Amino acid sequence: MPISPEQKMDLLVSLCKRRGFVYPGSEIYGGFANSWDYGPYGAELRRNIRNAWWQRFVLGRDDVVGIETPILMNPKAWEASGHLQNFNDPLVDCKKCKHRFRADHLLEAKQAEPGYDKEKPVDLKNVRCPLCGGELTGVRQFNMMMKTFVGVMEDPTSVAYFRPETAGGMFVAWKNVRDSSRKKLPFGIAQTGKAFRNEITPGNFIFRTREFEQMEIEYFVKAEDASRAFDMWLAEQKSWVHDVLKLDPSHVVYHEIPDAERAFYSARSVDTEYRFPFGLKELYGIANRTDYDLARHQDASKEDLRYLDPETGEKVLPYVIEPTWGVDRSVLAVLSEHLDIDEADTSDGDKEPRMVLRLPPRLAPVKAAILPLQKKDDLVRVARDLIASFRGAGVSVEYDESASIGKRYRRQDEIGTPWCFTVDFESLNDKKVTVRDRDSMGQERVAIGDVTGWVQNKL
Ligand code: GAP
Repeated sequence: MPISPEQKMDLLVSLCKRRGFVYPGSEIYGGFANSWDYGPYGAELRRNIRNAWWQRFVLGRDDVVGIETPILMNPKAWEASGHLQNFNDPLVDCKKCKHRFRADHLLEAKQAEPGYDKEKPVDLKNVRCPLCGGELTGVRQFNMMMKTFVGVMEDPTSVAYFRPETAGGMFVAWKNVRDSSRKKLPFGIAQTGKAFRNEITPGNFIFRTREFEQMEIEYFVKAEDASRAFDMWLAEQKSWVHDVLKLDPSHVVYHEIPDAERAFYSARSVDTEYRFPFGLKELYGIANRTDYDLARHQDASKEDLRYLDPETGEKVLPYVIEPTWGVDRSVLAVLSEHLDIDEADTSDGDKEPRMVLRLPPRLAPVKAAILPLQKKDDLVRVARDLIASFRGAGVSVEYDESASIGKRYRRQDEIGTPWCFTVDFESLNDKKVTVRDRDSMGQERVAIGDVTGWVQNKL
């Protein structure tokens, strides 16, 4: 059933709250702007995304090692990387209604208007407040680093910054990883973790927040191999989007960032953009950071960060290809891609709308639900044994004996459970259960002893 983008966003936000994927943060205290709690299913979905990523790009490869570095680092690292000076967003205020906007977002919105003439670029001076039509102030640069104090003294010597990207920790740890891992170029360092930015205009649910999570790889290569490594990682990002998240290719655009719009450190960048319900927006990115970061850290730390090529005996400062993924945007893309409404049969032979999350089974928070047809001891016993066998195999399952079977199916459909197993009276004789498929709603009988293996095979 077609759902308009506006409807989809409303349905998604309410489903997330109702079923326990995402709630407004600090809600009992009236909320805390743009912060979100991930509920039981949201936390599981995030973990599945993070684990699939780690499995694919760290454990699944010989040329990547994973590390974990702290959120708070020596502030000299952020001075050296250029973030304290350059990690800015252009900001304008409306003189009338006092709303604050990102200047680049206002220009993008103008460029997306029908009839926009590329030959006549918009001048921000001619743009008015999109909310009240008021005059806008001139552009100011606003630094997005979040500041704190470490220790008991709140003075300039105890200032520290929450990392704005996980990348920084990997550059700073490069020397230790280089010396201890005995990896040869090309090889990558990966990490996942929280990052913080004082965003001017957070919003669109979990799309843009001030605290979010990234999954990043810094892939170190000789300069002459940088372009090949870039293409390899871009292909990896594409296959992640299509094979793991199962996003429809027509909803994804790979956008080559023009020179003038690239981050200050990048020689080439491609953004993976996804058609979110609120428009085509950045999902992931990849950049050729050249030797910018290592050169800056080498200069500032006075440590030799070059790599000794064992074949030539030459010392080189590697280039870095950086593919980067946002966890929260992955969650939002997956939820909005796979949310659907179709029709299901009611018990009296009619049809009713059914909301269903067609999540890829590997990412689904619950893989299987075990449902005894009635709360009878012998049925419950079989169901409980099945639950134990799933748990023993490390497969996430849910037991539900409440309400009618139809209602229980609906609940599992809304949280994206791919398979429901019903234990009925016949099960006591034929030692089989009925498995009902979330997407086709088709049913078949499976021997009780085979159920766990049946699900594991599908995963
Ligand atoms: N190290 C490179 C880097 O951080 P970025 O494009 O600024 O590049 C990488 O961020 C990814 O992190 C984005 O593609 C997006 O998925 C996610 N991200 C960035 N800012 C975010 C925010 N304010 N809220 C949620 N996710 C964000």
